[in-house]
Amino acid sequence: MSYIATILLLGSGELGREFTISAKRLGARVIACDAYDDAPAMQVADAREVFAMLDGAALRAAVEKHRPDLIIPEIEAIRTEVLGELEQEGFAIVPSARAAQLTMNRDAIRDLAAGELGLVTSRYRYAMSLDEVRAAAEFTGFPCVIKPVMSSSGKGQSKVDGAEGLAAAWDYAVANMRGDRARVIVEQFVAFDYEITLLTVRHAGGISFCPPIGHRQERGDYRESWQPAAMSAAALAAAQDMAARVVTALQGEGRGWGLYGVEFFVRGEEVIFSELSPRPHDTGMVTLASQALSEFDLHARAILGLPVPDTIPAQPAASAVILADRDASRFTFEGLGEALALAPGDVEVRLFGKPVTRPYRRMGVALARARDAHSAVDLAKAVTARLCIIYH
Ligand SMILES: Nc1ncnc2c1ncn2[C@@H]1O[C@H](COP(=O)(O)OP(=O)(O)O)[C@@H](O)[C@H]1O
Ligand SMILES: [Mg+2]
Repeated sequence: MSYIATILLLGSGELGREFTISAKRLGARVIACDAYDDAPAMQVADAREVFAMLDGAALRAAVEKHRPDLIIPEIEAIRTEVLGELEQEGFAIVPSARAAQLTMNRDAIRDLAAGELGLVTSRYRYAMSLDEVRAAAEFTGFPCVIKPVMSSSGKGQSKVDGAEGLAAAWDYAVANMRGDRARVIVEQFVAFDYEITLLTVRHAGGISFCPPIGHRQERGDYRESWQPAAMSAAALAAAQDMAARVVTALQGEGRGWGLYGVEFFVRGEEVIFSELSPRPHDTGMVTLASQALSEFDLHARAILGLPVPDTIPAQPAASAVILADRDASRFTFEGLGEALALAPGDVEVRLFGKPVTRPYRRMGVALARARDAHSAVDLAKAVTARLCIIYH
């Protein structure tokens, strides 16, 4: 048996799991890696390696053992210098080592987007001490949002309404950052009308966009996402233009092919770039129900150099997350039958197979199709309300 490609997947969560299924359908061999055994993608992959993604020597050892055609960083916390060296040695990093390096830290991608490319962003400044935070907040004004430059899923992030809240926000950011560089971004709080993820596919034939995805965030993680998000043609065109520019700038020495999740805030007709993932986006799980080719299918096609359609239609659909509320290793899901019975042809559930629960850990997602995106959100939430985690 020969494979279309051997893929080393660095990070094996739920997004990696769906990607692995898509890539295997096209004939790839996938080796799933993560810091713990039995991670979601490992359960559906051809082989697994368990090591910490920040351990450069272990990362290199896994690459040398498997000699992959494609190396896919699936999470941000990876020893990205090693990815740069591997790319120099001829290994293909998806979408490129530069993309992994620049999106690992909020300051690097913000410098590129706002500084080099001149995209519209919120007012921001960096700070490495409480005094610098005070000066930065004077520049942005209140309310502002303080985030560690190295963090994800809202960790260490807080909104500050006045000067008296700055010390607590700085301490919180430093206590919850990744890495050893105490540096934060202080950003003006944007009172947006709505926020979107624009899935942008860079492939052999050019750049294609999925219809915009709306989402609602709570505690730094998304709760529901829906597609298509209602948006004016002018605002959508502005977002597409910015997305195309930023993904093109991330190519570096690599091919730059793959799907990116580009995040924007929208206020009136003003479109403000926020950040991006150089890989499928969690809010994009809605595409498992809305699109004939999900974000994972599109990513797999793009990275393998296969055709991607110019226009990607979506029917109205939504996703709603299923969260745990405590630490447990013995648990079951109950109510799946009742949940699916709500609309057997129009609702689906993906359970991720994570071995243990934690407070707020995402254990699965409900997907629903309906006549419009709003009704789809209601239906997806109704599914999650019927499906509960029973802890033993
Ligand atoms: N400057 C801001 N103004 C308003 N809301 C913000 C701002 N920055 C972040 N948020 C909110 O917090 C969410 C998470 O922030 P984000 O920068 O995307 O961090 P993460 O990397 O954790 O996803 C955003 O989707 C948005 O809802
Ligand atoms: Mg985000």
